[in-house]
Amino acid sequence: MKIVNGLVSETTSKANLLIAGVFQNQKTPPAALSTTDSEAFRLAKRALEKKRFIGTQREVFTTDREALTQAEALALIGLGKPEEWNRERARQCIARALHTARRLHARTVRFAAETFQGPSVALADLYELIPETLWLSDYRFDKYKKKEESGQDKPVESVHILYSKKARLDSVSKALNRARTVTDAVLFTRNLINEPANVMPPQEIAARAREVAREGKLRIEVFGLSEIKRKGMGGIIAVSQGSKQPPVLIVLEYGKSYAQRGTICLVGKGVTFDTGGISIKPSQDMEKMKYDMSGAACVIGTMKGVSRLKPKVHIVGIAPCVENMPSGSAQRPGDIIRMFNGKSVEVINTDAEGRLILGDALAYAAARFKPKTLIDIATLTGACRVVFADKAIGLLGTDERLIQNLRAAGEKTGERCWPLPLWEEYFEQIRGHHSDILNTGAGGGGTITAALFLKQFVSVKSWAHLDIAGTAWVNSDKPYRARGATGVGVRLFLEWLRNA
Ligand code: BES
Ligand code: ZN
Ligand code: ZN
Repeated sequence: MKIVNGLVSETTSKANLLIAGVFQNQKTPPAALSTTDSEAFRLAKRALEKKRFIGTQREVFTTDREALTQAEALALIGLGKPEEWNRERARQCIARALHTARRLHARTVRFAAETFQGPSVALADLYELIPETLWLSDYRFDKYKKKEESGQDKPVESVHILYSKKARLDSVSKALNRARTVTDAVLFTRNLINEPANVMPPQEIAARAREVAREGKLRIEVFGLSEIKRKGMGGIIAVSQGSKQPPVLIVLEYGKSYAQRGTICLVGKGVTFDTGGISIKPSQDMEKMKYDMSGAACVIGTMKGVSRLKPKVHIVGIAPCVENMPSGSAQRPGDIIRMFNGKSVEVINTDAEGRLILGDALAYAAARFKPKTLIDIATLTGACRVVFADKAIGLLGTDERLIQNLRAAGEKTGERCWPLPLWEEYFEQIRGHHSDILNTGAGGGGTITAALFLKQFVSVKSWAHLDIAGTAWVNSDKPYRARGATGVGVRLFLEWLRNA
């Protein structure tokens, strides 16, 4: 779907559909609509007067009329109460607008962006939010499906996002560029995750990361099994030893020349398929465990975004990638392994594998890059999904300011993060008997004990852990998140990096 900005006064031929937003219970349509298309304003005014449309959220009013100047037809999108307006509402309404366009078989669309302006969402932000949400909403993972027969919803080919003041050209085109970069990164991440585990083993993730590095001129290193062994990364070795697929540790680096201002390390869990290993998972829903590499995909996608946005920070993306399989060579419950930082771990449950590979990767990140800030992102615990469903990321860490900043970024992007405590009392659950630590504890608080496990491998002051087990995947279509991988975390990180 092509998206461009268009100056209202310069539009000549008509599009198939003009889209405008109208808040609930307004006496008149937004003034911005009259500058865009006076006939559209008149039609909207009449619809409001006759109460055929009152602008509640979910409401859509469509009509077609020769006299319209911008398009053959008009769709009014109900925006709900203005006092409830926020970015997330806006995203939902924009997604609904695209859905409406598809339903009406509109191939060309004009978007009256200014009519979506309300309290707490600035116009400048809308010019980024609209294309971003349109592209996110347009995404489907259907490459393995036969093309749909005609008669089905047709994709929208082009959208003009309208603006009325020539002077805005610079800012609206900057916003559009950023939206393109950000959505490219998110959709890249979704694709990586949605690919099944037979197509996307660790070495294929490495291949995709190499492409990202080549396109974005990033430094990349990919460590294979022998290097991982030489470095003493006992967690990565133990988890991967049951699989025919060799593990990899990917290190992507951007902006080394900014290193004196402090380094940021992002670490993502890359389990390309999680069967649970010998502590095997039930077969119900096991097919979804291809999304257990969502953290790694997010980190690589973020680095792709970073390579184009070019913030003035040194950023390192690290992705330990393995497949967790049961086999004659798999690790056993009760095995004691030695991790990169020298600590010993008794593997109580081979299904708690994410923390084993992350423990190595976090300790490695700290030892090699001495980062100012260290963040990991992982589909780490089913418990986090139980607590938050797909509504929030579990957030734990050692730096209150970092936590606040991540939360603020999440409120903006709609990837909300909610804090959980990291109290040392929980550590008793994973204190080892024959080893330093156990990889699981009994007694509940699974998301917290998992994070406390990770903390044993973090030697830097400022660290945060994001548990995306609930948010990385949706089982049904949601506004702007089609069923499957959501790419959660990429927009969050790129937003957070604006102020880093
Ligand atoms: N990958 C899973 C966590 C997960 C579960 C992610 C459901 C997304 C949806 C992780 O490796 C795991 O299996 N964790 C176990 C830990 C337990 C054995 C202590 C869990 O959450 O059940
Ligand atoms: Zn597991
Ligand atoms: Zn897992």
